[in-house]
Amino acid sequence: MQTHIAPDVSVSLRPATPADLDRMLRWSAAPHLAAAGGDDDWAWPEEIHKTPDWREWLIAEAGSRPIGFIQIIDPLREETHYWGDCEPNLRAIDIWIGEPDMIGKGFGAHMMRQAIARCFAPPEVTAILIDPLATNTRAHRFYERLGFTFVEPRTFGDDACFVYRLNRKDWRP
Ligand SMILES: CC(C)(COP(=O)(O)OP(=O)(O)OC[C@H]1O[C@@H](n2cnc3c(N)ncnc32)[C@H](O)[C@@H]1OP(=O)(O)O)[C@@H](O)C(=O)NCCC(=O)NCCS
Repeated sequence: MQTHIAPDVSVSLRPATPADLDRMLRWSAAPHLAAAGGDDDWAWPEEIHKTPDWREWLIAEAGSRPIGFIQIIDPLREETHYWGDCEPNLRAIDIWIGEPDMIGKGFGAHMMRQAIARCFAPPEVTAILIDPLATNTRAHRFYERLGFTFVEPRTFGDDACFVYRLNRKDWRP
């Protein structure tokens, strides 16, 4: 997997906690994310207190500065069944960089590579799914560079999305 740009500070992922709530609300409302987010209501104030075993909420830090968010779910077990009927042993990822000045500097690729490794840590996980909006062509390129391939267009709620998939056999750590 190719990294677009090498950031000069290290990127790490840590679990999100209730202390991150204000930051998550601010990021959710950030204008630079409006074209990427779709219409989902993440119910941050309630959900931040929950740690279901089918979900990880992670904060990405560049050095010690929180810059972005990653959600990893098991789409089969996720409680709203957002992904509908799907095979077992998958993961699905959502990602965004909340701090506008940190976009396009290579941090996202590092966040994704760590998230992918986390998804594939359990040996039974066979593939990872992503569902960017159909209009988010820059995100499509970003995922393709990380090894994801286009599967199909699919509508989730009111959002027209493209489904992408990375199979374990195609993963290049
Ligand atoms: C997508 C995202 C996580 C990528 O992280 P990043 O650190 O900006 O990306 P990198 O610097 O590692 O790589 C650059 C690539 O990211 C993508 N990218 C950069 N800015 C972007 C933006 N505002 N929106 C979507 N993708 C973007 C492009 O593919 C870019 O390559 P390009 O310059 O050839 O178009 C980040 O840009 C972001 O949070 N974008 C807004 C939210 C979003 O689109 N999330 C994905 C929803 S599915």
